[in-house]
Amino acid sequence: MNKVFAEPAQRLNGLGSAIFAEMDKLRREVESEGKEVINLGIGSPDRAPGAHVRETLASACAIETDYGYTMTHGIDALRTAIANWYQQRFHVKIDVETEVLSLMGSQDGLAHIYTAFINPGDIALIPDPGYPIYTAGLILAGGQKYAMPLLAENNFLPDLSQIPAAIAAKAKLMFINYPNNPVAATADLTFFQAVADFANTYGIMVCHDNAYSELAYDGYRPPSFLQAKGAKDIGIEFHSISKTYNLAGCRLGFAVGNRKILAGLAMLKSNLDYGIFKPVQLAAIAALSGSQEVVRQNASAYQARRDVLVDGLAEWGWHVPKPRGSMFVWAPLPKGIISSRQFALDLLRQTGVVVIPGVAFGTQGEGYVRIALVREPEILRVAVARIGEFLRHCL
Ligand SMILES: Cc1ncc(COP(=O)(O)O)c(C=O)c1O
Repeated sequence: MNKVFAEPAQRLNGLGSAIFAEMDKLRREVESEGKEVINLGIGSPDRAPGAHVRETLASACAIETDYGYTMTHGIDALRTAIANWYQQRFHVKIDVETEVLSLMGSQDGLAHIYTAFINPGDIALIPDPGYPIYTAGLILAGGQKYAMPLLAENNFLPDLSQIPAAIAAKAKLMFINYPNNPVAATADLTFFQAVADFANTYGIMVCHDNAYSELAYDGYRPPSFLQAKGAKDIGIEFHSISKTYNLAGCRLGFAVGNRKILAGLAMLKSNLDYGIFKPVQLAAIAALSGSQEVVRQNASAYQARRDVLVDGLAEWGWHVPKPRGSMFVWAPLPKGIISSRQFALDLLRQTGVVVIPGVAFGTQGEGYVRIALVREPEILRVAVARIGEFLRHCL
């Protein structure tokens, strides 16, 4: 018998970054030594959803008949609430029947879009650094990655003119994401228009991940990719109630835009899942169609955290840019430090503060660490003081 029991499939090779596992192992060690860890690693919202949303969820859970399968597309009222929200927020018209698909968290769609559209060897244009699922989903589908570097000198936007015409002609799909994770950069409509024009020229499907559209600061309002002319001819946009309404554990996201792309994704998903728990869909409707004051309060809370962190680090001599959006600070390593992995490991071991090495998000992430704004200002002040002392001793 030349088989190995429970040997993982080869397609799992190359998934995930070993650095995340290494950081997590060290975090557990540090915790077991009794040190208080301040985890600014994972971007999991720590703030509560609005009271009206929690009440809707709780009362829907009490209804005996709300426990059946709901099927893939999402209940009609959810699709309508999504289309209305899109109209109000971005002035983009979405057809409720054909241009909306609910997802079990946007991650569901980000992962499965490749299974639905990528054949082995097909090329996808992926930002580097980038949110890991853009690469993981592609690997699982057997596709080939063409990395688009996100560099500080280009304001962390991919330089479309650097993509060889032969690659663009072959590429099937492109991912973009603004406000961005991990680099916390934002993009304006001029950039989205350039992407839409490029994609229309070469016949490339565009997937814009707009998970952080409502976490924006200093009065900035991020646009939708679908506001660009011709965007809906080639693209879709992913959203989520996770960050906007602090409902990450509920697992509800959605994709809107090009009907052919959404039909392909829906066709795959109808074979994979039976839809989202109805009380969660009702909670999402309450969130999307209720007062957006909670969203504004949420953004100002994150802005205050950003200021505490960035201003605090500056007092210790570590100057990092203030982002206009996302829940992250993308911090260039302090002078004299070269390895983001070593810096993050040393910082965690010595101070208990978790940050993620930039290289975990792609080779172009080296030279940076990502700090998530997922703790209240008083905890961030403690983190800043610990980081400051660490820098004073190690530099
Ligand atoms: C850029 C980005 N897109 C998507 C997601 C996934 O969100 P969801 O909870 O909707 O699956 C995250 C989660 O951190 C993210 O950072």
